Amino acid sequence: MKFVGQLSIIFVALYFALSYVHENILPQFYVFDRTRLQQIGKEVISANPGANSTAILRGVHARLAEEYPGLINDFNEEDWVFNNAGNAMGSMLVLHASISEYLIFFGTATGTEGHTGTHFADDYFLILSGQQTAAPAHSREAEVYLPGDSHHLPCGYNKQYQMDPNSWALELAQGWIPTMLPFGLLETIFSTLDVWSCGKTIKISAVNTVKNLLRGKI
Ligand SMILES: *[C@@H]1O[C@H](CO)[C@@H](O)[C@H](O)[C@H]1NC(C)=O
Repeated sequence: MKFVGQLSIIFVALYFALSYVHENILPQFYVFDRTRLQQIGKEVISANPGANSTAILRGVHARLAEEYPGLINDFNEEDWVFNNAGNAMGSMLVLHASISEYLIFFGTATGTEGHTGTHFADDYFLILSGQQTAAPAHSREAEVYLPGDSHHLPCGYNKQYQMDPNSWALELAQGWIPTMLPFGLLETIFSTLDVWSCGKTIKISAVNTVKNLLRGKI
């Protein structure tokens, strides 16, 4: 029992230390501003009425590459990977990854539904095409997010969510990104065994994170 007590104290102390750094230190390293990202998304959407998702995503990507030079990965079709997490399945393209932030395109051509996960990070899900619905456990009616809307999932909160076929988003996460990895990879390791997507996700994230660390960006 003594051991359990000591372990609990260590976990509580660790939780408070991580929270303190999350609120007071990590924000100094954030390079992306969610309001600016939403502005860019809205501008591209309204400048391309009737455009397909590819045109919108490429348009947003071009603007991001311009606004954040050297920080956005190329739009290579072969770098898209499957992501299975929280019983939902989608495709993603990692645009930027560090210890405190990631920026990805995430979406689905067929539609999907699942759990958002519970994260030690704030998540901003900017809809670029299609529609997302979401609801916390106590809700009887879904929230609806349409192109241009940014769905903020605060640190520690979770929801059930659904995306229509052909729905795509620009997702920004800010906080303790490494703590999100188990959610992002466990279904691949224990269920889909999609080693290609898993390996590629780890490789791109690790290369990006180390590259950012080397230039002083946590
Ligand atoms: C999407 O739009 C672009 C640009 O207008 C076009 O080149 C492309 O063929 C379209 N893709 C599909 C799948 O319709």
